[in-house]
Amino acid sequence: MANVMAICGSLRKGSLNRMLMNASIAAAPAGMTIKEGPSYADFPIYNFDIQNSSGFPAQVDAYADAVRKADGLLIVSPEYNWTIPAGLKNMIDWLSRYKEVPFKDKPVAIQSVAGGLLGGSRMQYHLRMVLQSVDCQLFGKPEVIVNMAASKFADGALKDQGAIDLIKQQLAAFGKFIDRVKA
Ligand code: FNR
Repeated sequence: MANVMAICGSLRKGSLNRMLMNASIAAAPAGMTIKEGPSYADFPIYNFDIQNSSGFPAQVDAYADAVRKADGLLIVSPEYNWTIPAGLKNMIDWLSRYKEVPFKDKPVAIQSVAGGLLGGSRMQYHLRMVLQSVDCQLFGKPEVIVNMAASKFADGALKDQGAIDLIKQQLAAFGKFIDRVKA
């Protein structure tokens, strides 16, 4: 049984990316459970002086433990100004400072939703580069890029059948990818 930790890159209550993440949690294939990880919303902005004077904050330690325990990560995030939201990047920066980096060899799948035509794809590309630097195992295709979001969500949920089918295909392939990485 693969236990996947979901991470939402948006912190706002009405987040469309959170709705996409929830659709994935509901669509987990047999042999996989997906649960949202702890919050990273209150991590201080990374500063070596904090780490040097008082060590890693307790909430960062707890987050690192959660990542270590997961068989894989599903990151669902918006694109901010053509790249990764600062809060999400800040979490990665903190975790990257452990002697044994929790991301090492961790299988990761990425999803995004945005209102425009590109659907957060620039964020996905940048996130791949960052995750490569911390030795994640990046799942490739199918990519889940939900564009033109306005017409695809209603009543707090993803309604677009094409997107739901794509999520199912991605998660099934991600499950096999996790098995290959573990083997
Ligand atoms: C955005 N948005 C956005 N969209 C996009 O496709 N490319 C971009 O570069 C940006 N830049 C951007 C910056 C900032 C600071 C905000 C707040 C928003 C729009 C964004 O994709 C849209 O608001 C999503 O709905 C945000 O995701 P959540 O919060 O709904 O999950």
